[in-house]
Parts: sequence; C-alpha cells; structure tokens
Amino acid sequence: MVKLTIKDTQEIVEAEQGVAVSDLFEFDGLRSVPFNCMRGSCGSCVVRPLSNIWHLGEMAFEERFKLESMDLSPNEHRLLCQCHLLDDSEVELV
Ligand code: FES
Repeated sequence: MVKLTIKDTQEIVEAEQGVAVSDLFEFDGLRSVPFNCMRGSCGSCVVRPLSNIWHLGEMAFEERFKLESMDLSPNEHRLLCQCHLLDDSEVELV
C-alpha cells in the first residue's frame, strides 16, 4: 500500500501501488482536491508535489502542455487527475 497526503487539509488516502488518482477520488474519498473534468483539460486539480514528483507517475505530453498553458512549470506541478500513485506522495493545493 502507498499513501497520498494532501498537506493543506491533512487528508490521507491509502491505495494499491500504481492506482490512478482519479480512481481514488471516485471510490476512496480524496474530497479536498477540487476535481472537475477528470481528463486533464480544466486544470482545477493542479497540485505542487512536496515529495519526489515521479512518485506520481510519468507525465503525458497533454498534461505538460496544459500546465505550460497555465504558466506553471511541469517540473514543479502536476494535474492530480492524470497521476498514478507509484509511491508515498505528499502534495499541496495550488
Ligand atoms: S480535474 Fe480537470 S484537469 Fe484534473
């Protein structure tokens, strides 16, 4: 099991390694992140990883493009709905 911590609210969700964060939202809570489209297009779920950014999985071109269009660095931000939980991660809301 791995865990995802939302620093701002101290919400913690535990899940199987590799699970899509979008599945966590649907089945296990994760209510403190303002998810909307769940497709990586609205940008409402932007977070700043506080642990190793790669614990949230690889970044697809579309996610990188969306972050750059929001003037956010893909090296410091993620769209949480596009992430997979590969290891323990802590993020803060942007
Ligand atoms: S919920 Fe819209 S980009 Fe993540």
